[in-house]
Amino acid sequence: MPALTLDRLLSSLGFGSRKDSRALVRMGIVALNGEIQEDPFIELETRPDFVSVNGEEIPTFEDLYIMMHKPLGIECSHNPRYHDSVYSLLPSRFLGMNIKSVGRLDVDSSGLLLLSNKGDFIHHLESPKKGVLKRYDVTLARPLEKAQEKELLSGVILKNEKRAVVARTLEKKTETQVEIEIGEGLYHQVRRMFAAVGNHVEELRRLSIGTLNLDPQLKPKEWRYLSSIEVNQLMNGV
Ligand code: URA
Repeated sequence: MPALTLDRLLSSLGFGSRKDSRALVRMGIVALNGEIQEDPFIELETRPDFVSVNGEEIPTFEDLYIMMHKPLGIECSHNPRYHDSVYSLLPSRFLGMNIKSVGRLDVDSSGLLLLSNKGDFIHHLESPKKGVLKRYDVTLARPLEKAQEKELLSGVILKNEKRAVVARTLEKKTETQVEIEIGEGLYHQVRRMFAAVGNHVEELRRLSIGTLNLDPQLKPKEWRYLSSIEVNQLMNGV
């Protein structure tokens, strides 16, 4: 394996090509352990935990695991059609790191969104076979009737789908406010489930994925890295 030089490290962190990264170093804005480094070819014997670029401490993990509080009015697409993209809320250097969201939230939905560049992490959380639960807070247009509740808990077949989907849990907070858990992530699934039983979702917010709740410290549009404990819990279902 080639030695880890500073330009290689920066490039792997999404700061562009090695040539771009060398230019950054030569601008005198890259520091390691508090010391500005001007030699882009300096060999790093061990991978540092952080590198500072323009005063910002950048963690050097190659695997990115991010939690975002997705706001309303933003698309979860790399090529948004009508609105801004969630990716515009992240530092642009992440765009070179092949980061994707774990499933999507509609433009009119808010709440917990996970993003990563690790395919196995994304697959584990998205796969209907694994059935990792996603919990949503739902505001309905009309009171939830007993019959609707029963139907959701026993399973509904959505248009253009072969298999029934069920509410794994359904908790009525008020007449029109419920929390629902589902094990899949089909297109507009929660909205379509309530429509299928004759109700209508007015507001939708994702509260949790598996064991992980939306961090109450995060305001809409804000994000943070997941801790390794959180990643392990998500992967191992504890
Ligand atoms: N179900 C929906 O209908 N929309 C979402 O954004 C997520 C789940």
